[in-house]
Amino acid sequence: MNCFERTTGCGLVDEKFLNKVITLSGWVNKRRDHGNLIFIDLRDRSGIMQIVFNPVQSQNSHNIAHTLRAEYVISVTGKVVMREPATVNKELSTGKFELQVDSIVILNKSKLLPFSLEEADDVDEELRLKYRYLDLRRPSMLKKLEIRHKIIFAFRQFLDSEGFYEVETPILTKNTAEGAREFLVPSRVHKGYFYALPQSPQLYKQILMASGVEKYFQIARCFRDEDLRADRQPEFTQLDLEMSFVNEIDIQNLIERLLKYIFKEILNIDINLPLNRITYDEAFKLYGSDKPDLRFDMPIYDLTELFENTELYFLKNVIDQKGRVGAVKVSNYHFTRSELDQLTEQVKKSGSQGLLWIRINQDGELESPVSKFLPKDFVDNLRKIIPDIMFGDTIFLIAGQYKDSWSNLGRLRLGLAQKLNLIDYNQINLLWVTDFPLLEYDEKEKRWFSVMHPFTSPQPGWENKRPEDIKSRGYDIVFNGVELGGGNIRIHNSEVQEKIFEFLGFDKSEMNKQFGFLLQAQELGFPPHGGIALGVDRLVMLLLKCQSIRDVIAFPKTQSGHDPMMDAPTEVSQNKLLDYGLKIVKENK
Ligand code: AMO
Repeated sequence: MNCFERTTGCGLVDEKFLNKVITLSGWVNKRRDHGNLIFIDLRDRSGIMQIVFNPVQSQNSHNIAHTLRAEYVISVTGKVVMREPATVNKELSTGKFELQVDSIVILNKSKLLPFSLEEADDVDEELRLKYRYLDLRRPSMLKKLEIRHKIIFAFRQFLDSEGFYEVETPILTKNTAEGAREFLVPSRVHKGYFYALPQSPQLYKQILMASGVEKYFQIARCFRDEDLRADRQPEFTQLDLEMSFVNEIDIQNLIERLLKYIFKEILNIDINLPLNRITYDEAFKLYGSDKPDLRFDMPIYDLTELFENTELYFLKNVIDQKGRVGAVKVSNYHFTRSELDQLTEQVKKSGSQGLLWIRINQDGELESPVSKFLPKDFVDNLRKIIPDIMFGDTIFLIAGQYKDSWSNLGRLRLGLAQKLNLIDYNQINLLWVTDFPLLEYDEKEKRWFSVMHPFTSPQPGWENKRPEDIKSRGYDIVFNGVELGGGNIRIHNSEVQEKIFEFLGFDKSEMNKQFGFLLQAQELGFPPHGGIALGVDRLVMLLLKCQSIRDVIAFPKTQSGHDPMMDAPTEVSQNKLLDYGLKIVKENK
């Protein structure tokens, strides 16, 4: 038998191979030289098998085995035998067997690795990404790729069974004013002209509905030139889908069935449907976030009315300027002075003026830097708003304009839950957030922006409302406090679409230049439609309980958007720039 023809995988050797001559190929995971006998743990994608070199069996192979080092690539042929009972390795699926080597071929050698694969978890991420092929060679990383593959395969199976067509849409597409975070691609043929990489296939999938596709999906690559975080990459993957003749509930039901299928297929977990839902306004009021983590409670209480006649100047001032005072409550924990100072610093860093704390001690007395300014009946009045407040509890207050102070209370809530270990990391908390506002005003740019995108349909009755009061037909799905996906019912009528573009500051000519094709399509028999996109990287990260989406992407960029293996992005030569009609202007810093 040719040494390259593998009989099976290293991790797949079992009883049926006993006393048979087989060939295995893989990497030298570990070598133990006992003089006479040399043991190698041979590793391939399927697992590990112990192979033994005995000079009595083959002097030549034994000589070669002396020269083997970690990560050499070899192929061995020999007989599968039972191990001595005392040497059985219960940790390995193949631990009862070993292969007695007759012949070996070294397929490739390896220099000393820049880091040991076993200790790679502790290695600097930049180095791991520079040698990503070594990093991925580790069984734990290969497992992640396998599960990612299984999830994507399951998406396809499920959506095919529901009648969806998988359609690819262009990667080279059009730059639009709404896309401040787009990557641009210069064209050599059309000098001075640029394509944009898609932030998502949004408009193409809508146009596919105009084409009569009715049910579309795509495992779509998306590109966004934005600041990176643990759950954000400049290029990432969405499960993108769109349906015609549907409403919000149809899309949400489909996603619920899809997630139920994925959880069962991948983790063998049954999730209960329907999922919980909360409106955007309610989520923000109670948790200071549009993606609340509800694996723990700790709601935000509005204490504004308690302080309406306060002697505390700074609170009075906030309330006079139509601001609000919000609070979260912590039970069963006594904060030290330095912990309280640390929390105050964090809150200030997030932009609030400060953090006020009030503790009701075990004797029912108030402890706080401002206790002498609090009225006698403070606790009684507090109890009307927080009925379950008890002796020993601490409340943390942040005052300011509603949006800022509540967002900060939301961050404080999360920080406290992490610090006090209130999060049950085994819980799966999936939640719909609905009824988003359609528009938000940007004070800096002095104009309205879409909360989702400009193609999002407003809820009925919007014509008579002020822009800030219009709600959209948009929804997000949140998984353990991470935004997993978002979508909405779209506008299919050109008059409504034009009105929304007007809100966003487009005049007629700009509208036509940028979105003329859409407005035209909307006048040529566009069906009602809607859709959603789920972040595939985020879903895999959450299912595998990883800390970052970088762990579940084969070749991610670093936090600064760099690819250390390829060393991208790079400068290009003057000649190449000339080819594209480009000139680099260095910024004076
Ligand atoms: P949205 O912008 O909400 O919607 O994106 C949908 C989902 O994509 C994921 N996601 C990201 N994942 C990793 N890195 C990023 N930089 C990143 N940005 C977004 C998130 C998010 O919930 N076209 C619309 C969808 C629609 O309306 O149908 C869209 O792209 O999980």
